[in-house]
Amino acid sequence: MAKQHDVLIIGSGAAGLTAALALAETKKVLVLAKGSLTGGSTAWAQGGIAAVLDAGDTFENHIRDTMRAGAGLNRLETVEYVIERAPHSIRRLVELGVPFNEDGADLHLTREGGHSHRRIVHVNDATGWAVQEALLNAAEANPNITLLPGRSCVDLITGRHEARYSGSGRVWGVYALDEASGKVEAHTANATIMAAGGAGRVYQFSTAPRGATGDGIAMAWRAGARVSNMEMMQFHPTCLYNLEVKNFLITEAVRGEGGRLLHPETGHRFMADYDPERMELAPRDVVARAIDDQIKRYGLDFVHLDISHQPAEFVKGHFPTIYDKLMGLGIDMTKGPIPVVPAQHYTCGGILIDLAGRTDLPGLYAAGECTESGLHGANRLASNSLLECFVFGEAAAADILARWEELDPPPAINPWDESRVTDSDEEVIIKQNWTEIRRFMWNYVGIVRTTKRLERAAHRIRLLNDEVADYYGHFRVTTDLIELRNLLQAAELIVTSALARHESRGLHFTLDYPGTDSLARDTVLVP
Ligand code: FAD
Ligand code: SIN
Repeated sequence: MAKQHDVLIIGSGAAGLTAALALAETKKVLVLAKGSLTGGSTAWAQGGIAAVLDAGDTFENHIRDTMRAGAGLNRLETVEYVIERAPHSIRRLVELGVPFNEDGADLHLTREGGHSHRRIVHVNDATGWAVQEALLNAAEANPNITLLPGRSCVDLITGRHEARYSGSGRVWGVYALDEASGKVEAHTANATIMAAGGAGRVYQFSTAPRGATGDGIAMAWRAGARVSNMEMMQFHPTCLYNLEVKNFLITEAVRGEGGRLLHPETGHRFMADYDPERMELAPRDVVARAIDDQIKRYGLDFVHLDISHQPAEFVKGHFPTIYDKLMGLGIDMTKGPIPVVPAQHYTCGGILIDLAGRTDLPGLYAAGECTESGLHGANRLASNSLLECFVFGEAAAADILARWEELDPPPAINPWDESRVTDSDEEVIIKQNWTEIRRFMWNYVGIVRTTKRLERAAHRIRLLNDEVADYYGHFRVTTDLIELRNLLQAAELIVTSALARHESRGLHFTLDYPGTDSLARDTVLVP
């Protein structure tokens, strides 16, 4: 028997919880999350949230910086829509109790790459945790919101799952694995919002949490929604290089507050050779490519990020989380440099949505990192993504409320069919395939690409598709299997998109097409 709600939200990060809170005044909302309620990227965000709050800054400046970072692939209408709503989002978070750092009577604004002004509001260097906590506290206190962690969603429920098939093409909810019982349940609703985050873990090295396996993008794609610009995978320039701790981010704000990138042997400040005007504060694609070039050119394992020329109290005061973490690893950032390498960080592409968060599929909305809204274009400007989550979480909620009369309740839905599967006897296949995907994506579909390498990756994906489909068809689903299937789907979407773009633009840099076309075009894949 399906469990029915007014609105179903997949994901308890910034996008999902913002939408839930905006709906819960009048609607009963169910929020499902894989693993714990704080397992998404939101809780890991460091630097902050971009918003025009300083009298010397303007929306036009923020819009220009966003478009410049995005290499012209952004949709201006979306950029304006989001940036003009940023101050409202910050006020709302302050009301919810987020303890942003202050500077006298104003909020303290830090600076990050690609921003022409100081405009990043933050809670020290752990902004995401403070935001996640405030949103979660508000959601837990709201009697109209039910939070269900430990649910790995498998697939969207669509017209083809109706007990009496109507051919409606509608999305009615989701089949979700209860991770504790191992049973798959149907959860249905008048409207569904996909807010399941990015696909960063498709790469061997990523700053993203383990669950960032592209589930939302893959589920929407399989249900029939278009996805866009999946080749635009962002690599953060400065992830800690450490043999034990593999994915600890060193926030861009370290460079914003004066951190310099140095060759580890000569001490040369190499950004002068790549972007002499903006140096360490050039947009991420430029800085990540420069580090990648240094590492490959000189056979290095890492480069240095050094902020030790700033007073020790200043460094500890601005970056207490990073300072403590590094001290635990024997690195004192107030006295010497930090070894860093680039790592995958953000999925710019995703489910295509309009300004109301609507996807191609009736009844399915989407918000946050799983979407392609037109905000980021070919490269996301730092600290614009939490902002996108707040703005589109609210936009989707507003559209659902405005169209409520059209959003009819779900019909009877077929239960999940397990009659032809058994328990897996070879879990090792999942681990092996997962590792293989992440390795070839890193080696063949990374910061600098070629057609030959992309074709090799496409070939591996075709072989793995057969293996994973066979496995999925025979064995009971587990979270690991769900993630492997989605990871492979995400890899295929990234590689197909990368092969389709015959130019270099923003994050997509290929030696076979080094020039940039005069006209910016989205890569839109149709299921
Ligand atoms: P997430 O917060 O990732 O949440 C996804 C949710 O979906 C989770 O609840 C997860 O459990 C759930 N989910 C996923 N799959 C399933 C499934 N199959 N079934 C059920 N639930 C599922 N951005 C900024 O703007 N500023 C920053 O300073 C910043 N710093 C960052 C630092 C790090 C280390 C990282 C990794 C990212 C950072 N970002 C930053 C990016 C930003 O944090 C994310 O883009 C944003 O938090 C995404 O929010 P979201 O709500 O879309 O998804
Ligand atoms: C960072 O703190 O460097 C991350 C900011 C972002 O990803 O927007």
